[in-house]
Amino acid sequence: MHKNDLDTPCLLLERSLFDRNLLLMRERAAVAGKALRPHAKTHKCSSIAREQLSAGNCVGICAAKVSEAYALARAGIESILITSPVTTPAKIELLLACAAISRECLVVVDNLDNASQLNEAATGLPNRLPILLDLDPEMGRTGIPFAEAPEFARRLTAMHNLSLQGIQCYAGHLQHLRNAEERRRESQRLMQKAAQVFRQLQSEGIPLHIFTGTGTGTASFDLEIPELTDIQVGSYCVMDAEYAAVENPEYLQFEQFCPALTLATTVISNNHADHVTVDAGLKALYFTPDTPPRVVRQGLPLPGWRYEWFGDEHGALFFTGEKPALGQRFELCLPHCDPTINLHDEIQVINHGKLVDRWQIDLRGKVF
Ligand SMILES: Cc1ncc(COP(=O)(O)O)c(C=O)c1O
Repeated sequence: MHKNDLDTPCLLLERSLFDRNLLLMRERAAVAGKALRPHAKTHKCSSIAREQLSAGNCVGICAAKVSEAYALARAGIESILITSPVTTPAKIELLLACAAISRECLVVVDNLDNASQLNEAATGLPNRLPILLDLDPEMGRTGIPFAEAPEFARRLTAMHNLSLQGIQCYAGHLQHLRNAEERRRESQRLMQKAAQVFRQLQSEGIPLHIFTGTGTGTASFDLEIPELTDIQVGSYCVMDAEYAAVENPEYLQFEQFCPALTLATTVISNNHADHVTVDAGLKALYFTPDTPPRVVRQGLPLPGWRYEWFGDEHGALFFTGEKPALGQRFELCLPHCDPTINLHDEIQVINHGKLVDRWQIDLRGKVF
């Protein structure tokens, strides 16, 4: 089927751009001697996770939540890191179920009471439950402050059903900093503090072998940190207008990563001189006031065209030149990829203009 025959709104993944993005990140990490641990929170799609693994140089896949991890494990992903703490009895039960069906299920910890809960829950497991110490990159979301981390780690190592394997440090607040020098400086400052914790714990004889962190926005800087072992990049595989706005909105690119995923939309009303109405609104695109979706053709923005939010079901396309006809289709670069993908059931994979596959967004709704 040709991509123009598909019903809209729908998500289209351009195979060649997607493959390019995977290759680019794989190579960047490999040159720096690091591995990838791509984050599935971006795409919520086990098919994409499998593509990332088969692209190579991956040590596993990240999940934001335990229900996401469980869905990945059920889909056959063998090594999963849950990057948020798992704290309630029902979630811990699901964590154990995940550990039972995957080869490796790591979880981050930032609280001693939570660690005790996990330690108790892991009593009957055949192996110790592998954990990472979550460091707070001065952001205040999750994690232990750098200065408190050594004592916290010592307490964790005293828990006999847990196995402390390493540290996580993810500075989400820096990923979209516009000024590249500031992004580099701040990210390296924080990652060096994390590296110092890593070295100190190793020097105390704690056999840590994982130092994971970073996102698409700071990966190229963080790859210079010698102690870092793997990068948790997410958005790089599909990209979006928010990342493009950081660096190169004219080409909708960020460090050569391209918008591989777009939302196809159709003109449903054209009674005005300056704009037409399309069938993609807030239910198909996550609302970002400052970086609305961009109208694209073959990965490049259409100059002078703009999308404006027009309510739940609709968007306005302001055009230049000839007025678009009813039924005419356009593609939009996603405003913010993660929550936009989470609004859909499937991704249609396009190669040379033809529909070649449909990938279910099978982790959709897995939010606990
Ligand atoms: C813990 C963690 N790691 C990695 C990522 C991936 O970041 P990015 O999409 O900027 O690559 C995220 C995204 O929010 C995250 O929360």
